[in-house]
Amino acid sequence: MPDFEEIASLDDFGSADRLEVFVEDTPVLLIRVQDQILAIEDVCTHDGQPLTNGCIEEGAIVCPRHGARFDLVTGKALCMPATKSIRTFEVEVRGQKIYVGH
Ligand code: FES
Repeated sequence: MPDFEEIASLDDFGSADRLEVFVEDTPVLLIRVQDQILAIEDVCTHDGQPLTNGCIEEGAIVCPRHGARFDLVTGKALCMPATKSIRTFEVEVRGQKIYVGH
């Protein structure tokens, strides 16, 4: 059972669909998909680059560097050149506050 830490508020997104935060020392990208908030480690497993500005298509984020795709829910690497999953985090929204489990 993870510990949940208050990490942001829904207002912090403004009009954006994503928000960069840190969970302990790990860069994490919060992504708003319809009415759900998802959280992934913001580091591509191919070459350690940030996924921050990657396109989001069909439930996956595309690494802007070499085009690897990762499932936003499971973190699974869906195509080369990445072969290892990215870490994902549980998210709870309580009122306006966003909590991330770690
Ligand atoms: S750094 Fe992401 S695909 Fe290469």
